[in-house]
Amino acid sequence: MHREDFPMLRNDIIYLDNGATSLKPYSVIKKQVEYYEDYSANAHRGDYDISYKVDLEYENTRDLVRDFIGAKRKEEIVFTSGTTDSLNLLVNGFFSGLLEAGDEILITKTEHASNVMPWFRVAGETGAIIKYIPLDDNYFVTLDNLKSVVTPKTKVISIAEVTNVIGDVRPIKEITKFAHERDIFVVVDGAQSVGHKKTNVSDTDVDFLTFSAHKMLGPTGVGVLYGKYELLENLEPVNLGGGMNESFDSPDAMILKEVPTRFEAGTPNIAGVIGFSEAIKYLEKIGMDKIAEYEHNLRKYLIEKLVTIPHIDILNLEADSGIVTFNVDGLFAEDVAYYLNKYGICVRAGNHCAKLTKDVVGVANSIRVSLYFYNTESEIDNLVELLKDKDKIMKEMI
Ligand code: ALA
Repeated sequence: MHREDFPMLRNDIIYLDNGATSLKPYSVIKKQVEYYEDYSANAHRGDYDISYKVDLEYENTRDLVRDFIGAKRKEEIVFTSGTTDSLNLLVNGFFSGLLEAGDEILITKTEHASNVMPWFRVAGETGAIIKYIPLDDNYFVTLDNLKSVVTPKTKVISIAEVTNVIGDVRPIKEITKFAHERDIFVVVDGAQSVGHKKTNVSDTDVDFLTFSAHKMLGPTGVGVLYGKYELLENLEPVNLGGGMNESFDSPDAMILKEVPTRFEAGTPNIAGVIGFSEAIKYLEKIGMDKIAEYEHNLRKYLIEKLVTIPHIDILNLEADSGIVTFNVDGLFAEDVAYYLNKYGICVRAGNHCAKLTKDVVGVANSIRVSLYFYNTESEIDNLVELLKDKDKIMKEMI
């Protein structure tokens, strides 16, 4: 769908690495150029026309994001540099002050590094304990599995809605309902989900949601931390400096601005945030349900072809997302990616920054195809054709 809107697709490539970053449509690129060419002033600081224009555009993106994820207030949207930044701000600014020795943090072994390492550190600093939610035979989280590890000491559950290697879709609403009946916070890493399926934080009732613009058609270097307003009021800014303070007369007299401005110290990625508005408009114009359905069908098409190739082992046959992860029997994943690259096919290979996944899946490296709505059946036919002949792969992979 809509391939003509993506300049990168003019090149002779088959781009199947959307889990790493998505392509950008003209409208997103143009919006950023427009900022640099027509009203390139700083945000929230100037007293002249073009600086007001910047503020309007910047805050307009916040409004669009609020609406896109179903948040109640625009103040609940904090701009960061990406999911990693959002999770670090949240863990260091909120949970580090809340967790005590013996408190339990629940994650899974299939989380991305950004949703593991900040928790590891805060656990070390506070004496809190990391526990892993057991996964079922498909490496999925079920409510029953979650229930088996929740105790009165559980303080927070932090999981991806869609994981970046297994691509399983977690039952976030059910998990949140169960968690909130026990006063447990729910943090959702939405990096692989928000650009691919409808998100509504008012419906799922999650406490915090993090995601990145660049994985959903937007610019790099822009992310979002959503948090319920009353929780954000208790989030300590990690970065102090310009733009986020009312006054600072002495160490004891630092007065901060309101939520969310107090979390956006320094000059933000103005062009990126403004460009992000066009990404959201673009996704909304197509419709998130339509995107999800398209990806569902394309995945099915790919899986039906891959299962007929005897030397392909699919790691996540049952997952229902655009992420399909596999290995070619006996071959190193990166070598296969290198072979595909010779034919202009872009896939990711390796551990995909989810280095605990090997403990449950049993293999450290894999090849990942991650789809988006501009991918086509004919691109998949090309990929499958190249994967069919193992001798050819072995001959050409080095
Ligand atoms: N988190 C990104 C990925 O999964 C980079 O590829």
